[in-house]
Amino acid sequence: MRSDNDSWEITESVGATALGVAAARAAETRSPTPLIRDPFAQVFLDAVGDGVWSWHSAPQLPPELVEAEPELPLQMQAMVDYMACRTAFFDQFFLDATGAGIRQAVILAAGLDARSWRLPWPDGTTVYELDQSRVLEFKASTLAEHGAQPGCDRVAVAVDLRHDWPAALRQAGFDPSAPSAWSAEGLMPYLPAAAQDLLFERVQGLTVAGSRVAVEALGRNFLDPGAREKRRARMDRVRALLAEVDPRREVPRTDELWYFEEREDVGDWFGRHGWRVTVTPSDELMAGYGRRPAREVEDRVPGNLFVAAERAAG
Ligand SMILES: C[S@@+](CC[C@H](N)C(=O)[O-])C[C@H]1O[C@@H](n2cnc3c(N)ncnc32)[C@H](O)[C@@H]1O
Repeated sequence: MRSDNDSWEITESVGATALGVAAARAAETRSPTPLIRDPFAQVFLDAVGDGVWSWHSAPQLPPELVEAEPELPLQMQAMVDYMACRTAFFDQFFLDATGAGIRQAVILAAGLDARSWRLPWPDGTTVYELDQSRVLEFKASTLAEHGAQPGCDRVAVAVDLRHDWPAALRQAGFDPSAPSAWSAEGLMPYLPAAAQDLLFERVQGLTVAGSRVAVEALGRNFLDPGAREKRRARMDRVRALLAEVDPRREVPRTDELWYFEEREDVGDWFGRHGWRVTVTPSDELMAGYGRRPAREVEDRVPGNLFVAAERAAG
């Protein structure tokens, strides 16, 4: 359950969702033909051991469970594919932005995103990573112990994105008069609708023409009560069966951390505020990367929208 000022360790509540994404990226990285490679994802998982996040790596399931829910392995693989495509989309976004000369990147809700260590940043690039303090501390200390060095000037900015974070970003060295590139990946459902609007207003106040933004926005089906009920019932069945046959395993209740609230369409918001917008629905993104989900489970993959925008002059 959420509250206005809740905070978390990496292994609990919203923090554990960052480990879930790392588990999916680790699974993709060790697959035979990975779309993305994130060698640091497994480093984070090794530091914390098994937990509810391990579910997102699409582990082998007990035969009793597969017999009762034959589409579950396909569904879990489709989610690993979704996370791989999402990672590739944001990787490409930052590669394009720095290729166009932008030297300030801001990763909102950075979680265990290891782009500061993974991507080939041009000299002189600063990457600001925003997230809650204990998430950023876990990430930095785990990678330091591993001996990894970021390939950019990485600046951790410990904030709550529901609060007034622009002052902290400026204090950390961010220059609002120079172009910047911003990402919001895996963040929107964890923010109340009002906090989403405020987030974009703050981005607007910190950007100049030529700046870019990429957002994983919620699709129209996010609020559909029928789809939500179906998903909840399916996962309750899986949870009950697993409790009998493999009680050590946990099934996440991620949707309990989400805010099911009406929101303005993200592409419309940026369009209204003077940005040139392109929107790629998740099914198109996945098809483009050759990772179309199996037909039986295509309605179980998030119908999110991948929004990219560039702020126009004037
Ligand atoms: C699903 S994870 C995604 C992490 C990362 N963007 C990725 O895709 O790997 C969600 C992240 O959002 C962060 N987050 C959610 N709400 C936040 C808030 N109000 N302030 C700061 N961070 C927040 C969590 O701490 C967590 O790291």
